[in-house]
Amino acid sequence: MPILCYEITGATTPNTRSTTGAEDGQLSAVLKYDHAEAQAQVYAELVANRLAMFLGIPVVVGVPARASTADARLRFAAIRAAEGGLDVYDFTADDRHDPDDCPADAPPLPEGMYQTAGHARAMTLLAQKYPKETADLAVFDLWIGNEDRALNFKADLGAKDRGVMFALDQGSSLLACRATVDRSLECLARPDFPAFHPFQKLVHARYCGAMVERITSMPDWAILSATTYDDTVGNVTVVDQVATHTTLIERKRFLGALVDRILL
Ligand SMILES: Nc1ncnc2c1ncn2[C@@H]1O[C@H](COP(=O)(O)OP(=O)(O)OP(=O)(O)O)[C@@H](O)[C@H]1O
Ligand SMILES: [Mg+2]
Repeated sequence: MPILCYEITGATTPNTRSTTGAEDGQLSAVLKYDHAEAQAQVYAELVANRLAMFLGIPVVVGVPARASTADARLRFAAIRAAEGGLDVYDFTADDRHDPDDCPADAPPLPEGMYQTAGHARAMTLLAQKYPKETADLAVFDLWIGNEDRALNFKADLGAKDRGVMFALDQGSSLLACRATVDRSLECLARPDFPAFHPFQKLVHARYCGAMVERITSMPDWAILSATTYDDTVGNVTVVDQVATHTTLIERKRFLGALVDRILL
């Protein structure tokens, strides 16, 4: 897949100490906070992002961020993708298209496909154009307990060749898959959670199997370094961070069965 770039905004100025012509500049970002409906949102975004980077899952990069010492609340800054010049189909927008309004000779949609969030035809095109990326993302979502993938990805569907496909917003996964940390841990302990995925029945078994293998062989140290920090992260204590590590190791055990049942 071609490299996904992020959006530089405003003017740049020379970095006075640089000996190689570096500039000081600004990137655009979507700033996210812990929220009543997702009390561990910042932690969930951060951990999911680090796991995704390790596994090669196409999600937009994000970083922990603070505004100033006066407002020390931790945020998660999802760096905004540079979409200019790309023919990006926005799956994050509401689908206002009438599902029955398609050519009479259009092939039938796959049986069992998730249609609640609309974009049905575009989703089948997406899965054809990006079979590996969609499978990778779907398996990853089942592992991290993300029920909120619908409307949280974008893709270049117009380009003749392959373009970019990227996911965003893992803020309702892991310890934020429910409003509170305790309820989230209860869900994550269940081998039948999540019960659906927007890419279900659209992905290939071979790619799904490869990603299950990649996740189950992920070293403990890498999961530990993505999940645990020496301090609270937003609302999440170190004890709950360790619980996240434990639950992710546990979820490896039933990931293959979950993929077979939900995705294939
Ligand atoms: N890094 C990014 N690059 C490009 N667009 C983005 C990025 N992050 C967010 N957006 C856009 O901003 C919207 C809101 O962001 P996000 O989905 O993270 O917020 P949210 O409050 O968690 O939303 P919801 O829970 O309703 O999905 C996205 O649907 C997407 O259109
Ligand atoms: Mg969203």
